Amino acid sequence: MNKKADINPDKVIPVEDLSEPLTYGVEAFTCPEYAREEGDKIWSKVWQHAGRVEEIPEVGNFITYDVMDDSIIIVRTGPDTLKAFYNVCSHRGRQLVDTPEGAHSACGRKQNFVCGYHGWTYNLEGKCTRILDQDDWKGCLNDERTQLGEVKVDTWGGWIWINMNPDCEPLVEYLMPASDLLNQFEFEDMRYHWRQYVVFDCNWKTALEAFMEPYHVEGTHPQLCVYGDFYAWSKAQGLHGNDGFDSKDPEEGDSAATTTVTRTGKGPDARKMIAQMQNEFWDTIRGSTTPTLVNAANRLVDELPEDTPPHEVHEHWYESAKRDDAARGVVWPTIDPDKLAKAGLAWHIFPNMSFIPGLTFLLGYRARPYGGDPNKCIFEAYALERYPQGEEPKTEWVYAEPTEEKWRKVLAQDFSNMAAVQKGMRNRGFRGALPNPHQEQKITNFHRNLARFMGKGSPRVIED
Ligand code: FES
Ligand SMILES: [Fe+2]
Repeated sequence: MNKKADINPDKVIPVEDLSEPLTYGVEAFTCPEYAREEGDKIWSKVWQHAGRVEEIPEVGNFITYDVMDDSIIIVRTGPDTLKAFYNVCSHRGRQLVDTPEGAHSACGRKQNFVCGYHGWTYNLEGKCTRILDQDDWKGCLNDERTQLGEVKVDTWGGWIWINMNPDCEPLVEYLMPASDLLNQFEFEDMRYHWRQYVVFDCNWKTALEAFMEPYHVEGTHPQLCVYGDFYAWSKAQGLHGNDGFDSKDPEEGDSAATTTVTRTGKGPDARKMIAQMQNEFWDTIRGSTTPTLVNAANRLVDELPEDTPPHEVHEHWYESAKRDDAARGVVWPTIDPDKLAKAGLAWHIFPNMSFIPGLTFLLGYRARPYGGDPNKCIFEAYALERYPQGEEPKTEWVYAEPTEEKWRKVLAQDFSNMAAVQKGMRNRGFRGALPNPHQEQKITNFHRNLARFMGKGSPRVIED
């Protein structure tokens, strides 16, 4: 039986309800034309995070951000002002700032950008301030004609965001409702702990989707199942989406599952389970927790009697970690419990950002096309933490081969799926994706929004 025959293209039902069983094809992952069109229809139209504000602390500090054929320079022009420009000289089109050999971006500090070809020079505001033999142009070169092309730039959550569309909506509107639910985490006060990237043999969506649902935990990270069932709700949030731990028992609802299953683990002794889980997260992810949380968890067996109820163990652990952090000058944000429950476990921000937020940490992922090849991407992961002022580590982007040694166990397990999914989707026997209607709505919402931007490939109801 060929299941493809079940999808009648004349009966495409607009997808409003993502809890319906839906399917979509592989065009977005494998088709070279689709990949090329993404430049015009997605990347030049959306807000996308290009770096962190901490990367450009001083006036004149800059970074570059490349996506497909476009390269953008983001520069600090004043204590509170950033500008972004297309990274191309107005004279004859040489890329203005080169990417160092073996790196995926450039960074540094300059008072002027000098083109390496004929020496045209631009100040931090993008104005062309030196043109060799300018009189030869008979007076027709004005500032407007020679300045660097400007790109929209803004900040939210400590990230720098750019948008190549001059008529785009404001960033804060684009991010709604994610920005509203997540502002309370004060991500802008977090700093990089580590950041790594790799050029990977899969589409950028394949890479990103490897981190968009906990439904894969049992199959991919079986060692984590001692800590919970990882059953999740998954929701569209406009362009974006989030998920959170759920219970299969309708009586329990999501908030009960959040505290009892995932934070304290299964098993009779919550003190030991929390400590074991925290150490495992630190050892096998080096993220989703912090040394303060791990140390406070390790003390639980000494500080609490064996029969302490799990929610009390959890409360004690968080309170003592909070005190430890306060003693070293790290203040936790005050969180509205209702918004915390709504924020859930992990977020997807359209098109290419995914993260797991915490009160004192964030584990983030970014994936983007590598040139126009549908079968390749630049994949990046990073961990953020809160640090006492002046104790933030100095970090830079590090290229890391996709091995367990370089990325630790959990990400290596995720990598093991990515190239294999990309391969499977090119197999003529694959009949289209069958995402979980309850636990993978983030993914179907992603494809619904991709389809809106691209004008094709919308998820469709699976017919009986
Ligand atoms: S291309 Fe830049 S100065 Fe000629
Ligand atoms: Fe995973």
